[in-house]
Formats: sequence, structure tokens, C-alpha cells
Amino acid sequence: MINLEGVRPFAEGGNRVCYIHPDNKNLCLKISKQEVVKKIRSNAPWYKKLRSEQSFDDNFREERAYQQRAVKRNPQKIWRHLARWHEFVGTSKGLASCTELITNNDKVALNLEEYLFSKGRTSEINNALKDFEMFLKETKLLTKNIIPHNLAVKENDSGLTLKIIDGLGCMSFIPLPEISDAFAKRYIKRRIELMYSRIEWDLSGRKGSWK
Ligand SMILES: Nc1ncnc2c1ncn2[C@@H]1O[C@H](COP(=O)(O)OP(=O)(O)OP(=O)(O)O)[C@@H](O)[C@H]1O
Ligand SMILES: [Mg+2]
Repeated sequence: MINLEGVRPFAEGGNRVCYIHPDNKNLCLKISKQEVVKKIRSNAPWYKKLRSEQSFDDNFREERAYQQRAVKRNPQKIWRHLARWHEFVGTSKGLASCTELITNNDKVALNLEEYLFSKGRTSEINNALKDFEMFLKETKLLTKNIIPHNLAVKENDSGLTLKIIDGLGCMSFIPLPEISDAFAKRYIKRRIELMYSRIEWDLSGRKGSWK
């Protein structure tokens, strides 16, 4: 078991707390906030409450999302824009998912929201967005709505690369995009449109609805 007592998280989202693995600076440990899992479950309609508690936990949903067709069909290419998922590990603060930590010069990478707020829509980030958009269309990787704080900005010799660190999966009520390429194509086109509107909304002071 990994001891996280006294280890400070490097970040925290609405659902999970993130630590750098104490024995490997290239790995990220994410622990779901149990109070959030319980709240989501208690607010769910009765027929969803019949599901196990795990099905309301983002770490378990994410593990399932990594098993989608696009990942299996593109076993090499997919990791260019997706953080690798390794395993579940026990820690002193609860079960953690262990994933690739995205870094630049040994520091945790900025997420896209942080990048945009500090540097704006630079030509480098526009190129990275275009590249990411092409990748999604080509691989048909299914994501929930792509929110800038769920993409990490990796610096490399040829520019910037966006990496998904959260939000993998399909948000359709009936998950047809998981089984049909035609539905996946339409679904992804919409996620890309919404990604750009969310960026615009973030950068223009978050007025009104971003959709
Ligand atoms: N693998 C990673 N590499 C680098 N930074 C990361 C990684 N995973 C998470 N982060 C940072 O930690 C933040 C929170 O992580 P994450 O999005 O996984 O938490 P969450 O609670 O699931 O988020 P949300 O509020 O979107 O549900 C991210 O916005 C990002 O800045
Ligand atoms: Mg997140």
C-alpha cells in the first residue's frame, strides 16, 4: 500500500484529489472524493440507485472508458493525445487510479484553462487545437464534453500537444456512438464544436451559457 500521509496533493477537481506518486514522479494518483460519489448516488433516480456504488465513481467510469473501441483500434497512436491509464492501487487515503502524469521539465503541465488564462489564444495553442481536433475525428475517441481544465498542455520540440487527463467516455443517453462509427462521427463533431464554444466562453468572461 502506498503511504500518502503528509503528501500534498498537486491539484484537486470537483470529483478527485490528485497526487504525484511518491515513488515515481511520472505517475499520477487520483482518489475519488467519497462524499461526492455518495451525493451523486443519492441524487440519482431510483432505477440508477440499483447500480453499485462503483458505477458513480469517476475512477471506475474512467477505467471503463479506456476500454472503448477507439483505444483498442489505435493501440499506438491514441497515446499521443491521451494520458496512459495504468492500474488501481491501494493508498492510505483510499483506492487510487494510477495514470501517466503529464509534465514539462519535471513540473506538472498546465491544463488548457490555465494556459489560456495566462497566455491567451497563441498561434502555438491554435495549432495544438487543430491537431487535437484532427486526431479526434480520425480515431473517433469518445469523450464527454471537452472542458479546457481536462486537457494538459505538453511542450515538445515541434510545439504543443494537448492530452486528455479527464473526461473520457460517452455522454449519450443511449450510447450508440460506442457501437456505430456513423453515430461516433456525429457525436465527435458536436464535442469539437462545444470545445471551441467553451474556450470562447472561458476567455470572454463566462457570461450566459457556454453551450
Ligand atoms: N495526469 C495528469 N497530468 C497532469 N495534470 C493532471 C493530470 N490529471 C489531473 N491533472 C490536473 O489536476 C486537475 C484535476 O484533475 P481531474 O480533472 O482528474 O479531477 P476531477 O475531480 O476528475 O475533475 P472534474 O472537476 O473535471 O471532474 C486537472 O484539471 C489538471 O490540472
Ligand atoms: Mg477534471
